[in-house]
Formats: sequence, structure tokens, C-alpha cells
Amino acid sequence: MHRPHPTEVYENEVKDLLSRMTVGEKLGQLQQLTWTGGTGPGGGQTEEVERAARAGLLGSVLNLHGAAHTNTLQRMAVEESRLGIPLVFGLDVIHGFWTTFPIPLAQASSFDPEVAVRDAEVSAKEARSNGIRWTFAPMMDVTHEPRWGRIAESCGEDPHLNAVLAVAKTRAYQGDDLAADDRLAACAKHFVAYGGAEGGRDYNTVDVSEQRLRNLYLPPFKAAVDAGVATVMAAFNTVSGVPAHGNPHTMTGILKEEWGFGGVVVSDYTGVEELIAHGYAADGADAARLALTAGLDMEMVSTHIAGHGARLLADGLITEERLDDAVARVLALKFALGLFDDPYTDESAAVDEPTPTARAAARYTAARSMVLLKNDGGALPLDAAASGTIAVAGPFADHTDLHGTWAGPGCRRFPSVSLLDAVRAAAPAATVTHAGGGAEAVAAAARAADVTILAVGEEPGLSGEAAVRADIALPEGQAELIAAVAATGKPFVVVLLNGRPLTIGDWVDGVPAILEAWHPGIEAGHAIADVLFGAVTPGGKLPVSFPRAVGQIPVYYNRENTGRPHDPGSDEKYVSRYLDLADGPQFVFGHGLSYTTFTTGEPRLGRPVVSVGELDDGTRIDVRVTVTNTGERTGDEVVQLYVHDPVASIAQPVRRLRGFERVTLAPGESRELAFTLGADDLGFWTNDQNGRYVIEPGAIDVYAGTSSRAEPRATLTVTR
Ligand code: BGC
Repeated sequence: MHRPHPTEVYENEVKDLLSRMTVGEKLGQLQQLTWTGGTGPGGGQTEEVERAARAGLLGSVLNLHGAAHTNTLQRMAVEESRLGIPLVFGLDVIHGFWTTFPIPLAQASSFDPEVAVRDAEVSAKEARSNGIRWTFAPMMDVTHEPRWGRIAESCGEDPHLNAVLAVAKTRAYQGDDLAADDRLAACAKHFVAYGGAEGGRDYNTVDVSEQRLRNLYLPPFKAAVDAGVATVMAAFNTVSGVPAHGNPHTMTGILKEEWGFGGVVVSDYTGVEELIAHGYAADGADAARLALTAGLDMEMVSTHIAGHGARLLADGLITEERLDDAVARVLALKFALGLFDDPYTDESAAVDEPTPTARAAARYTAARSMVLLKNDGGALPLDAAASGTIAVAGPFADHTDLHGTWAGPGCRRFPSVSLLDAVRAAAPAATVTHAGGGAEAVAAAARAADVTILAVGEEPGLSGEAAVRADIALPEGQAELIAAVAATGKPFVVVLLNGRPLTIGDWVDGVPAILEAWHPGIEAGHAIADVLFGAVTPGGKLPVSFPRAVGQIPVYYNRENTGRPHDPGSDEKYVSRYLDLADGPQFVFGHGLSYTTFTTGEPRLGRPVVSVGELDDGTRIDVRVTVTNTGERTGDEVVQLYVHDPVASIAQPVRRLRGFERVTLAPGESRELAFTLGADDLGFWTNDQNGRYVIEPGAIDVYAGTSSRAEPRATLTVTR
């Protein structure tokens, strides 16, 4: 079904306006400047912003929020400029504005699109009431790189999981009407393959085959475009040698022509200027020409398109048609946002703090996003009614900044609930003690306690943009804390607060229970306590593999086989393996335990045979899977459906996630879940630059289970 884009809906209004604009005014609409950010490249552009707004030479502003602040600037644009075209205010509302939700990687661990929806709805309401109309989210960069700090912002290593959450978030930010006073325009970023940065080094080279681009990196973007995402942001990296900001193949060929994207493609921060440093553009004018011609519509922070556009046009180096198309996209977005009807924000209706409902949503989603990695001998849950002593220890025991990277303005005003406070509240009969970072003090507290909760992990600044780590073990001294507590012989559990998978092989065996809490946001402590004491039974799953060692990276579940796979039972030398490390990750994609246990039955196919023609015509195969809670508590399981095409003209990943569902079951309860597999699940993109998707005849293995280790259970035959 074709969903009309703003450029079609507002065609007449846009045409009329365009016909009255000078070249300078048109170029101005393609410019976005930053209000703050004086420390980053580009600096703060405050005075320049006001001047450009008054002159009608500015399209958008980022990093300014507040109803009154944005109204003041908006008045300059609307009342003082010749045509009175309103500005659109953008901000990185990534996992919250005032109310910080768990980081996106955590949200992905929930395997529950509703978690993304709750974040987006609260975020949109808070941000919109503070003048923001456009968020630079969701980020949907599939990545196999735990060293890369921006893995915290992504939904991990699987394209399907990224796509499902990207769609949920996009729809929830945007709603049915972008002009509604509780919605935002969304931005699919970063286009494209940013997660493939070599060595995980941010902004780095990505040399990628067409098939991998299309099978791994593009699917979430395609899904977001189909869901009507209003804007797309270009990525900082090169794609096979051509920087994404100047890449006609990705921005125009695929995004705009193949997919029919009618929205705005915005650059990343100084991304146009960076075409020079990439060694792609000779100077600013050249960068502007390359970016605009390749399909970029709006320049963030650097000013080359606006600065050189008129000259480039006069010299015939850019076309009027392309310029008008870019401007039309920006204007249509503004019409869709209702800015021409009412450019201002109601100052009396601004939400200025997290409401109790928003906090409850943050707590619920954070607890739902946690992953129980290990739980030997039922170390967890702890007994909330017990009257003994609980030591809350480690560098994150009393920490109130558990917001994680890219938290909104709320992270500076509203501290996270600390774990210590939350444990006190959750276990009122217990004596709760606290020991911070020193090994001796922590060990003494552990000796004196009946149980110790040891909170370790990464400071928020260790993940996120330009926060790459070469060694992804716990930061210095923390493994020693674990060893010191383990040496006491007393019961203890470890809570991990981190923005990426960590290498934990050095200590994992000596710890009875590990709860991966990620960076849980404003309600962090309460959400962790909910899980530790069993008010919430953990049900999250890993959206990324946990490597055993850095030297093994990248290690991911959706890998291809080799000609010489290693059979773990054999010591054959000439096979694909490390001599000094066990095969595979420490914890696989999709892993996560519960306080109860589950079994899944065989996947049952609605029919065993289907033809390529039927699939092309839209036939979908029913797949039924029964899941049973075999334990003694109510809990959640995420049933995961994977496929593998064992013989294909392009070697296929050994597993590809194609469906998942999180269900809550009472003890002894069974449920039959229904999935379907269709053309989009059973084929793959080839290396054809023009985009060729094929479904090949043959067998497809279908697996269902509770992690990516799901065993083979059914075979579907695809006939010619
Ligand atoms: C990031 C983007 C972000 C932009 C605006 C850049 O540095 O890469 O993800 O949206 O800044 O803040």
C-alpha cells in the first residue's frame, strides 16, 4: 500500500511557496544550525542562528529546547523574515527527554516492541511540549562490534530485531498525525552501515558487499521507511569507499528511488564538511555539490550547501531541480508538522518534570529490559521479607547517574534512583549496609552480610558516541572486587550496569548469579530491585553476543559457516577456530534466564512444501510453536524463530531470526504461538547493485527455541 508522503499531500502549498522563494531563501531551508554545543566541532552558533532566522535563511535548529526559548526564536523567523517560514526544532531524544528510559540496547533486550512504544510516547509528549518537533531517533545501526560505544544506542546484532523495534518506535513517536501536540517527526539513522566501523573505531571505514549491505544493514531502514519515517540521517562512515554523505547509490539509488522515500535526508553533525577529511571532496563547495547531488537534503552545522549553493547553481554544478526537490521535502515536513498553522508551543502546557505515570513506565520498561545471565542454585530472587543483612556494594551501589549515553536534558535535573535506596525500600525488614569501591571494605561488608549485591559496570561516558574501548572487560579494579567478595564464601550476586557487552570470562565462573541491567535510566534502582527481589521475573534476552575475549571480535550468531567449521568434539587442526579460546561467545544472542523454566515444542509448519511462485504471490507459511512454563513461578519467555537456508547461491547465515514473541505464563501453563514465514523471510538479496532479491528452491531449516542455540526441528521445502 502506498502511503502518501508529505511532498505529495502538500504538493500545492509547497509549489506555491517555492515559486515565491529566492535561491538564497531556498538554500536557507536546507541549513540546520546548533544552538549550543560549543565544545564540539562546529561550536555554538547562537548569534548566527538568530541572524539567519530573522533573514529567512535558516531551516532548522538543533539543541534548543523549552517552549519559551523556542517560541522566541520562532518569532524571529515567522514575524521578521520576508516569507515567515517557521523553523523546525530538532533534538536527540534518544531514550527520554525528562524521563530517562533504559538505553536502546537494553530496550532491545526486552524483545518487546511495547517497551520502545512506551519510551517513544512519553518522550514525544515531554519533548513536544518543550518546543521540539523532530527527534534524531530511532538509531537502527545493526552492529557486530561491542567495542564500538554506539552499540549502546543500537538494538544489537540482528536486522530483524532492529527493524521491529525501529518500526515500533517510529510509529509511536509520529502517531497518525505529525501535527498532534504529543508527537514528533522521527529520524532513521545512521544511513548506512555505521555499525560496521572497522575495529569498532567510531566514524571508521566500512567496506561492505552489496549483499551484506542489503541483508544486514538496510532492513531496519527499509522497515522504518515503510512505516512512514519522516526523515533519515546520513552516516559518518564510508560505504565501500564512498562516504555516506556523498553516496548517490545509498541515498538516491536505494533510499529515494528504489524505496520511494519522500522525506528529508539530513546530514549528521558537520557530516558534509567531513567529506573533505574523508578525501572525497576538494573543498567546501565540492562537498556541498557532492552531498546535494548524491541526495542529501539538509546540512547539520557545517554551512557549505547554504554558503556555496548559489555559485554552484550559477555554474551549473548543481541543478535547480535537485535544489527545489530538497527544499520541497523540508517544506513538506513543516506543513506535515503543522508549523504553518501554529508555529508556536503553548508555554502554559509545558511538561517540566517526569510525571508519576512516566516514571512508572520507565521502571516497568527498565525491569523488562534486564537479562538474567546466570543463576546457579537459585541464588536469585532474594527474599524481600527476610530480616537479615544485605550489603549493597561496588562503585555503582550508590550511583545516581545510571541514565546511560545520549540521555536527554532530564539526566542533568533528575538523578537516577540509586540501588542502595531502592534495596532499602524493597526489603524494609532487612539491615542494608553499603560499601563503595575498595576491595577490603567490600569484602568486610560481604563477610558481615547474609547476602551481597555487588554493582559493577561502566560509567555512562564509557559508551556512546566516540566512546570506544579496546578492552571491554570491567574497568580497572572491579574484577578484583568480585574476587574479594567471592573469596568470603558468602552468598552474593552481581549486577552489571553497562552500555555494551563485556568480556567477563575471568570471573563468570566464580559468581552464582549475574543480572545484566544495562543503563536502566531514571528509575534504575527500583527496576533492579524489582528483579532482584522477584517482584518482576526477568524475561529479557541478549540482543548481542557476549564475547569470551576481545581477540575473538567480531563474534555474532548470524555468521556464515566456513568450509572448515570446527567440530567441538574433535581436535582436527585445519579448521576455523582459535587455538587458545573455546568456540563461540560467552553468552549467545537470545540468551536469558528466568526464575522459572520453559520448554518449547517442535515448530509445526502449516504446510511442508511451498513454491517460489506462491511465495511471490504473498503466500505465508504458518508456523506454530507451543511453549510451556515448566517451573513454579509465573514468568516470561521469548520464543524465537530462526531460519537457515543450507544451500544457496550466496552462503547464508547459520541462523537468521525471523520472528519472536514474549509471553507471560503461569506455572504449568502452555501456549501455542503463531508465526508466519513469507517471501521476505525465506530469500535474500544478491550482490546486484540494482537490488535483486531471490528465493531459491530447496530446503529451509526452521528452528524454534529460547535462544539462538535453538535446535533444528522442521524443514520447509521450497519448490520451483
Ligand atoms: C551524532 C548523531 C546526532 C547528532 C546531533 C552526531 O554527533 O552522530 O547521532 O543525532 O550528533 O546531535
